[in-house]
Amino acid sequence: MIKLSLSLIAAFSVGAATAASAESPSAGFKMIYDPFKDRGVEVTSPADPDNAKQVRAGAALYLENCAECHGGALEGAENWQDSQDDGTYLPPAHDDTGHTWHHSDKVLFDYVKLGGEELFKDYPDIVSNMPGFGDVLSDTDIWAIYAYIKSSWSPESREWQAGASRLDPLPDAYIPGAVGGSQSTVGE
Ligand code: HEC
Repeated sequence: MIKLSLSLIAAFSVGAATAASAESPSAGFKMIYDPFKDRGVEVTSPADPDNAKQVRAGAALYLENCAECHGGALEGAENWQDSQDDGTYLPPAHDDTGHTWHHSDKVLFDYVKLGGEELFKDYPDIVSNMPGFGDVLSDTDIWAIYAYIKSSWSPESREWQAGASRLDPLPDAYIPGAVGGSQSTVGE
């Protein structure tokens, strides 16, 4: 958890710092490590952007639960790259222009299931305004939302994100249908 949170913060701050100035918001970040080095090693994700049924279900859930803050077309709040006077951030974009795709499946899942306050509880300096949805959305719902979000990504962003997930594998408990995991009802 600690290792994960640190990598999340690193990705978040580097993404935020470079996004405002560079055309490619992740150019600086990409140089830190190379997720393509294991290219070809398959990563199976419970969030599959090529599964039309899962993507459709996720789009509806996104509109209901996320769009009011992150935008109806995944565009984020206006000027989301700028930190606010109190050091917080506005809801970022989830498409290629954001940095959602920098994070592993596990980090993305935890962000939504737990919310930012819980995720960063060991880091009192970080004030997060991202709510937790653990009481509202099932695990299957959360993966469907990410299938939809991923469906907006370029092949390069998808491959980058698969690389991040490869370095931070999902425990079985996160995988619907796995032994110890929740039951999947979407996309079967
Ligand atoms: C009440 C507004 C609000 C709602 C609703 C909301 N978010 Fe957020 N979200 C935020 C804010 C603000 C941030 C910026 C970071 C922070 O404050 O932790 C954020 C950050 C995130 C991040 C981190 C992105 C990154 O690149 O670091 C993810 C992922 C995310 N939200 C996903 C979702 C999803 C999926 C939903 C719907 C289930 C959702 N959010 C609903 C406000 C919201």
